[in-house]
Amino acid sequence: MAGSPARVLVAGATGALGRLAVADLLERGALVALAGRDTEALAELAAAAHAPARTVDAYDLDACAGSAPWARAALGGLDGVLVTVGVAGFGPAAEVADATAEHLMTVNALCPMALLRGAVPVVGDGGFLAAVTGAIVDSPLLGTADYTASKAALAGWLGVLRRETRPRHLTVVDARLPHLDTGFASRAVAGTAPPLAAGADPAPVVHALVEQLVSALARSLPPGNAIPGTGLPTPSDPVH
Ligand SMILES: NC(=O)c1ccc[n+]([C@@H]2O[C@H](COP(=O)([O-])OP(=O)(O)OC[C@H]3O[C@@H](n4cnc5c(N)ncnc54)[C@H](OP(=O)(O)O)[C@@H]3O)[C@@H](O)[C@H]2O)c1
Repeated sequence: MAGSPARVLVAGATGALGRLAVADLLERGALVALAGRDTEALAELAAAAHAPARTVDAYDLDACAGSAPWARAALGGLDGVLVTVGVAGFGPAAEVADATAEHLMTVNALCPMALLRGAVPVVGDGGFLAAVTGAIVDSPLLGTADYTASKAALAGWLGVLRRETRPRHLTVVDARLPHLDTGFASRAVAGTAPPLAAGADPAPVVHALVEQLVSALARSLPPGNAIPGTGLPTPSDPVH
């Protein structure tokens, strides 16, 4: 049975991981809505992907919160949201400027939280809410206190969101990805990254993440329905 395609909002779509996620979702036949900061890059990506797009800056928390409702209207429904917005910033905890700390908290925590908070009432039951935090939440490095704090704040929030949305069978994913070869650390707003081993190839990591998200949709559907974006039937005994 051919399934209806999954409808997914990717926020941070013009970033390295966001672009990979968009491409992977499109390959699976999903319908994708794009949110990003860089208007020009977003327009190019939207044209290539034949996808609706919306410019959002992390500091505009109302616009962040309004992104999922916009995506639902643009796609005719919403099955999931993936947030890949983020920025790096480094320096010893005692020396990082308050403005840098505020920036990291806004981009890495408050913006994703607003995006996903706005998504809770509009994502269908059984859908997913996902954000990329990082392995640094579990293994902080010297010189990353404020970056780590911002990601840990998001991780903690996601953990509570997961429990609070369980009755609706929402899958909340805190993607603690390892260091990846995207140049992310070199785009830091302050300081220099501590010595890091070579980053891993991001493509298979993002592929696995998207697989996890699409599989979560599949498990959440009643038996006999099709898995959005795959055309495959769901398992007869779905796991919640
Ligand atoms: N790469 C890694 O090693 C790694 C590992 C673990 C976790 N992560 C996390 O994965 C996410 C994506 O990383 P990446 O490697 O894809 O880096 P990236 O290419 O620099 O992507 C970062 C994304 O965040 C957006 N962004 C930054 N500041 C913003 C702001 N003020 N308002 C709105 N959007 C803003 C960027 O928008 P523009 O496109 O407009 O610049 C871009 O889409 C980040 O949250 C990062 O912390 C990365």
